[in-house]
Amino acid sequence: MATESAQPKEQIVDPWTAKAGEGEKKINYDKLIVQFGSERIDESLLQRIETLSKKPAHHFLRRGIFFSHRDVPDILNAYEQNKPFFLYTGRGPSSESMHLGHLIPFLFTKYLQDVFDVPLVIQMTDDEKFMWRDLGLEEAHRLAYENAKDIIACGFDVNKTFIFSNLDYMSCCPSFYRNVLRIQKCVTCNQAKGIFGFQDTDSIGKMAFPAVQAAPSFSTTFPDIFGDNKDVRCLIPCAIDQDPYFRMTRDVAPRLGYHKPALLHSTFFPALQGPQSKMSASDPTSSIFLTDTPKEIEQKINKYAFSGGCDTKEEHEKHGGNTDADVSYQYLTFFMEDDERLAEIKKNYESGKLLTGQLKKELIGVLQKLVGDHQARRAEVTMDVVKQFMTPRPLNFKLSA
Ligand code: TRP
Repeated sequence: MATESAQPKEQIVDPWTAKAGEGEKKINYDKLIVQFGSERIDESLLQRIETLSKKPAHHFLRRGIFFSHRDVPDILNAYEQNKPFFLYTGRGPSSESMHLGHLIPFLFTKYLQDVFDVPLVIQMTDDEKFMWRDLGLEEAHRLAYENAKDIIACGFDVNKTFIFSNLDYMSCCPSFYRNVLRIQKCVTCNQAKGIFGFQDTDSIGKMAFPAVQAAPSFSTTFPDIFGDNKDVRCLIPCAIDQDPYFRMTRDVAPRLGYHKPALLHSTFFPALQGPQSKMSASDPTSSIFLTDTPKEIEQKINKYAFSGGCDTKEEHEKHGGNTDADVSYQYLTFFMEDDERLAEIKKNYESGKLLTGQLKKELIGVLQKLVGDHQARRAEVTMDVVKQFMTPRPLNFKLSA
């Protein structure tokens, strides 16, 4: 686990750190595909997704925000033969308020649930945050429920979605713990050290945890939903930093007689300071929170959002802005759905016609609406609604058509 705060020599991407290498302005995602041994999402996979889902691909796919995958064609082949799959994603509840970057996997998962009409399980790793952070068990558990409200506010269908706190579900579902144990037996300490960088001074709880994140990849972890059916495949949308957990999972799956989970990986949501690191809740100046007011959003973007424009108006008009480095433009690629409008902004910014201040203003409007709408939806999510989502129960889907 790397913890150094300066820019490291080689880029570091693991579940705890995302930093570009020395002298690099950005995380190099092509290099990650090679290092991790995943596959790029190419045009033909995009088209296959569109054909099977009968909908245009989500702009996160079209714009390369979800850029890498493992075994997605297997999921699509099964789906084509009317065999359902399920979606699995999760969240480590370490802070009261989530930020914009935390929304990305959930917005994408919501799209997948809508177009494929499949069940979804969402793991809240309150146990993980207890083990890694300076957080008590009750506080971690409370945060799991608070964060669940934000997740529900993304619009998930209660009839197709099960959200669970590990602290709750591990103690009430025998099948979950059985899968955890099966996985733990397959992974040696040496392997865990190799995959996650654990040190001998780390607690044994950290060593044991990856099996808990792995287990929901297998349908038998959810007997209320799938009975004892081992054959329902799992697709995991997540940021690429979670891949180590699922490399481990995929390695043990065949030994347990389970399918390997498939994955869809996203890039990181850049920090306000620029795309060499990701937005992080522990640095408030790097983040726009889902609880920010319109005024705070405006001030943060104006003050902190790294600009790819030139220093003076004259220079900018002459040389144009760099959309690759410009955080405001990058954020628009995440949240401005209109392709034509985005292309126009890019053209005008690169030619120097659009100034940084104007670009920021555009972004501020988009984010104020996004965050405002989110807050309104979250206010409707009562504890009763949360409990509905978090009660183990059958979900609506056809096992075979
Ligand atoms: N470890 C993740 C985090 O800290 C939470 C998580 C659990 C997760 N299961 C997952 C993320 C599955 C993606 C997919 O945020």
